[in-house]
Amino acid sequence: MNSRIEKDIAYKQIEDNKQKVASDPYRLHYHIMPPVGLLNDPNGFVFFKGQYHIFYQWNPFATNHGPKFWGHSVSEDLVHWREAPIALAPDKWYDKNGCYSGSAIVFQDKIYVFYTGNVIDDDGNRNSYQCMAVSIDGVHFEKKGPVIHVPDGYTAHFRDPKVFFNNGKWFMVLGAQTEKETGEAVLYTSSDLKTWIFKGTLLGAESNGGEDFGYMWECPDIFRLGDKDILLVCPQGIPARGFQYQNIFQSGYFAGQIDYDNVSFLHDSFVELDRGFDFYAPQTTVDKKGRRLLFGWLGNAEVGESKHPTVKYNWIHALTIPRYLEWKDGKLWQCPVKEIEKLYEDETYYDNVVIDNKKPITLPYVYGNVFAMKIGIKNWQASKLIVQIGESNLIYDQTSQVFTFQRKTFTAPHALESRHCVLKNLKEMLIFKDTSSMEIFLNDGEEVFSSRIFDDLEAKDVIFKVEGSVTINIKKWNVKKITKY
Ligand code: FRU
Repeated sequence: MNSRIEKDIAYKQIEDNKQKVASDPYRLHYHIMPPVGLLNDPNGFVFFKGQYHIFYQWNPFATNHGPKFWGHSVSEDLVHWREAPIALAPDKWYDKNGCYSGSAIVFQDKIYVFYTGNVIDDDGNRNSYQCMAVSIDGVHFEKKGPVIHVPDGYTAHFRDPKVFFNNGKWFMVLGAQTEKETGEAVLYTSSDLKTWIFKGTLLGAESNGGEDFGYMWECPDIFRLGDKDILLVCPQGIPARGFQYQNIFQSGYFAGQIDYDNVSFLHDSFVELDRGFDFYAPQTTVDKKGRRLLFGWLGNAEVGESKHPTVKYNWIHALTIPRYLEWKDGKLWQCPVKEIEKLYEDETYYDNVVIDNKKPITLPYVYGNVFAMKIGIKNWQASKLIVQIGESNLIYDQTSQVFTFQRKTFTAPHALESRHCVLKNLKEMLIFKDTSSMEIFLNDGEEVFSSRIFDDLEAKDVIFKVEGSVTINIKKWNVKKITKY
């Protein structure tokens, strides 16, 4: 296999589909999307020589999960992104069925990426290799081949290396499945990035208080925030419980203290990162300002993918807007990065708007398909507030202390489906609507709901309804289009 050929076919695929993709009215205005085909996990998020690099799992040839490439976008400011040349193509014996997810670090002025080479043999058996590739210019990557083979005791579901530096050593955390079919996060260490020593299980399905916690863990990430070590991980196979674990696969974190010498983790229970319909496989990096930043996949695995309206335009999925993480009051808070405000224009604001149960209200200029809006609650004398945005609803019920996001299903146009979380008080909502997505940050990042929405594009109204009375401040901005097609 020749990497030039693989990449050239992918570029031709982009060219051949450019018009069709661009003609989709649901194409997003300020999110990273695949130029054609399917995008899933963010990969290799790194800050290198003044630029942010984000890579993504990408199948250029179809809107399903085929052999993955690493697409690549670059930005100086986290909001204006441009497509860079394809970083990795599945063109070697050790990654021929996909350059699966992984991470990047900067060392001695070079970017090192670590990813999983996915290989399916002629009998349909899977193998996984943790591979390394290096770039001097941040654009072209030279593959160095496998650095880790699957150790004894694990199935070939062994993937998604995240490399980080701690206390003078390199570490790699991986998502794994034991031969008993339980999920784990395992640790390796290295002094030179080439030779990796298996240290063992950091946390496994059975170690979360002994409970069953899934048959496979994907896309782990480890970092320190405040006085906590955080393990982000995506367990698969956890049944829904109340408002929790409603999506097919979960994405959340354990916080505590990691003992790297003894490979143990004293931790609190698992907390979901996002309460919406479409969020998975997040990955973080740290930038020159020392901020811990996160990108997620604004999608989730293989559920109803063929039903997404964008599929007929030969593309599917996107990344979230980037978030900034903080550890506060015993939990992880997520806010959109400040830089997103650069895209705001046409500010509209209203102070002290009193809404009561006399009638639903709309406000001049507060409507649209693509906008950001901040709603601050000033005086709450209500049992319920409903903000209808297009055909979606944001509902806060003070009596039950439950926040609900409702969207139209993709399949039955008149049916609604919901996601919820418990929220003691509602103080603020920061809402990002793009043509076919909504990201809602509650109380300055205490809870987040990320979802794709496929509303009728003529449904542009924002309608406020209250049971009782509420006084609010509103700021609303149009958001500039930064995507090229
Ligand atoms: C998560 C995931 C990863 C894998 C990649 C393949 O969405 O299944 O575990 O590396 O996607 O695209």
